[in-house]
Amino acid sequence: MACTMQHLDTLILLLICSYSVDTTDAVTCHPDQAFSLMQLKRSFIAANLSSWRAGTDCCHWEGVTCDMTSGRVISLDLRELNLKSRRLDPALFDLTSLRNLNLSFNVFTRVPLPESWFERLTDLLHLNFSCSGVSGQIPLEIARLKKLVTLDFSDNPELYFFEPSLQTVLSNLSNLRELHLDSVEIVSGGSTWSVVLAHNVPKLEILSLYGCGISGSSIHSSFSRLRSLKMINLGYMAAHWQGS
Ligand SMILES: *[C@@H]1O[C@H](CO)[C@@H](O)[C@H](O)[C@H]1NC(C)=O
Ligand SMILES: *[C@@H]1O[C@H](CO)[C@@H](O)[C@H](O)[C@H]1NC(C)=O
Ligand SMILES: *[C@@H]1O[C@H](CO)[C@@H](O)[C@H](O)[C@H]1NC(C)=O
Ligand SMILES: *[C@@H]1O[C@H](CO)[C@@H](O)[C@H](O)[C@H]1NC(C)=O
Repeated sequence: MACTMQHLDTLILLLICSYSVDTTDAVTCHPDQAFSLMQLKRSFIAANLSSWRAGTDCCHWEGVTCDMTSGRVISLDLRELNLKSRRLDPALFDLTSLRNLNLSFNVFTRVPLPESWFERLTDLLHLNFSCSGVSGQIPLEIARLKKLVTLDFSDNPELYFFEPSLQTVLSNLSNLRELHLDSVEIVSGGSTWSVVLAHNVPKLEILSLYGCGISGSSIHSSFSRLRSLKMINLGYMAAHWQGS
C-alpha cells in the first residue's frame, strides 16, 4: 500500500514538473511568421519538413529559431534538406527579423536570386547559399544588407557578378568578415577585384575565391590594407573564365 502511495506521489510530482517545464519553454510563434513559413513550405517540391504543421508553434519547427519575446523568426537554417523549388518564394522575405539564413546544400537548380526583396532582410548578419544551385546575377539588393558579417555564395557555378559589379555589391558591406565566392564568376579585369576588397571590406578575415574566373588575377598593392585577413584561398582563379 505504502508502495502504491509512493508511486502516486512520484506521478503527481512528475506531472507538476513536466507542466512547469512546458510553460517556461513556450515561445509562441507570431502568426504572420507561421503564415509565411507555411507559404514557403508549399513552394518546395515534396519537402520533408514534417514538423512544419499548421496550428503548431512554428518556433519549434525544424530549422526555425525565434526571438523569445517577439515570436519572430531570427534564424532559418534549412541546410542540406534536399529542398527543391523553381523559385525563391516571396514569403521568405516576409521574415524580416532574420539574422541568419542558411539555405546551403539544397537543390534550387537554376533558380535565379530575386532582383528585389533581399533589401527587406536588413537585420541579416549571416547569409549562406553555398552549393544550393541558384544562378544568375547577384542582385543589387544584397548591397543594402549593411550588417552582414558572413556572406557565402560559394559553389554555385552559374552565379555571377557583372551588372551590378562586385564593387557595387560590396560598397556598403563594411562589416563583412567572411566572404566565400568559390566558383562564382566575377567579371572584373586585372587586379580590380583586389582593389575593390581593400577599399570596401576592411574587416575581412576570411576570403575564399577558389575558381572564380577572374581574368589576369594579379593582386594590387593596396590589398595589404586588409590587416585582419587570416585565411585566403585564391586557388584556380583564372582557369574558370567563361566570359558572360
Ligand atoms: C524526413 O525527415 C525525418 C526527420 O528529419 C527523417 O527521419 C526521415 O527519414 C525523412 N524522410 C525522408 C523520406 O527523407
Ligand atoms: C555555410 O553552410 C555550410 C553548411 O551547409 C557550411 O559548411 C559553411 O561553413 C557555411 N558558411 C559559412 C560562411 O558559415
Ligand atoms: C549556416 O550558415 C550560417 C551563415 O553562413 C552559419 O553561421 C552556420 O554555421 C551555417 N550552419 C552550419 C551548420 O554550417
Ligand atoms: C550605400 O549606402 C548609401 C547611403 O545609405 C546609399 O545611398 C547607397 O545607395 C548604397 N549603395 C548601394 C549600392 O546600395
